[in-house]
Amino acid sequence: MELAGANGPSTGQISAARPLIGEEERQAVDRVLASGMMVQGPEVAAFETEFAALVDGRTCVAVNSGTSALHLGLLAAGVGPGDEVIVPSFTFAGTANAVALAGATPVFADIEPRFFCLDPASVEAAVTPRTVGIMPVHLYGHPADLDALQAIADRYGLALFEDACQAHLARWRGRPVGAFGKVAAFSFYPTKNMTTGEGGMVVCADEAVARKVRLLRNQGMERRYENEVVGFNTRMTDMAAAIGRVQLGRVTGWTARRRANAAVLSSELAVEAPGVALPQVAEGAEHAYHQYTIRTDDRDAIQSRLQEAGIGTGVYYPIPTHQLPSFASGAGGFELPVTEQVCREVLSLPVHPALSHPDLERIVAAVAKAVAG
Ligand SMILES: Cc1ncc(COP(=O)(O)O)c(C=O)c1O
Repeated sequence: MELAGANGPSTGQISAARPLIGEEERQAVDRVLASGMMVQGPEVAAFETEFAALVDGRTCVAVNSGTSALHLGLLAAGVGPGDEVIVPSFTFAGTANAVALAGATPVFADIEPRFFCLDPASVEAAVTPRTVGIMPVHLYGHPADLDALQAIADRYGLALFEDACQAHLARWRGRPVGAFGKVAAFSFYPTKNMTTGEGGMVVCADEAVARKVRLLRNQGMERRYENEVVGFNTRMTDMAAAIGRVQLGRVTGWTARRRANAAVLSSELAVEAPGVALPQVAEGAEHAYHQYTIRTDDRDAIQSRLQEAGIGTGVYYPIPTHQLPSFASGAGGFELPVTEQVCREVLSLPVHPALSHPDLERIVAAVAKAVAG
């Protein structure tokens, strides 16, 4: 797929994110429509098998969203009422929603400020006799500290449930994220590093859990009309899977582009905008740069100056989950100072693979000017 404006001057609006859909995706969808087999058919089965190559060959079960992947993964792993799962508050609400929808209680822990992922010390302090698991979020595509979190899980007999919704192809000590937890969830929402329109994948460490996810996504059935448990309809369509299979062939190249774009932004912003805190990468981590997120104490003003300069940006996330109306009433008493501070400071710049080199130069110049006031 040709990326628009790869060499020409950068003009017009630079969007914060851009789903890349080409002719091959359109043709794949057309083939499915012509086949008449539109839901959970051969394309979904092939997508599950092919996605497994990204997660060390683990069993994959496709569903209709990342939220469903988290929700069904937790249910299949046995999480339910009376259980507590430790989650970050600095994440998309879908993380804690999935825990609450499973009937369990999300217990919020703080993050550490360099990598925006769970702080192991805060996690350990949040463990109670009701804790059954820890759900790290590999936020922005940066892997959480899976060594430290696994050590805590081992110490207290807990499971790891990975929210890898933003982290396709991120790695921790050479192993792909999604291949660490009892279950892991990926999202294929349009702004993610690869898309199926809407969609999600549950990655399972064992076959018994995978079978439960398959039952739960399809009304409790494995064989037609032999419903074994009460289940949902969270199936993936074959149109979505067909798009996903094409995108799977591109996501490695796109991730390399994201990393190269991030390297340009970091080396140039370090010189041109020295007051800004640039994203860091932990030793042992391979960042997938779903987002390239800076920190600055003048965030809102800088964001509007960038908007005026035609640079789209995003604030992920302005409100900590534990302070959202949906959780605040039941989630009193949390003190998460790092989370609360970064919510005021984070600003995500465009890093997507459709950016040209002139676009990157324009972003750097605009940030330098916006920071200078
Ligand atoms: C960290 C995180 N968790 C969960 C989700 C939920 O995924 P979806 O929007 O596909 O339901 C998302 C994405 O939106 C996410 O970024």
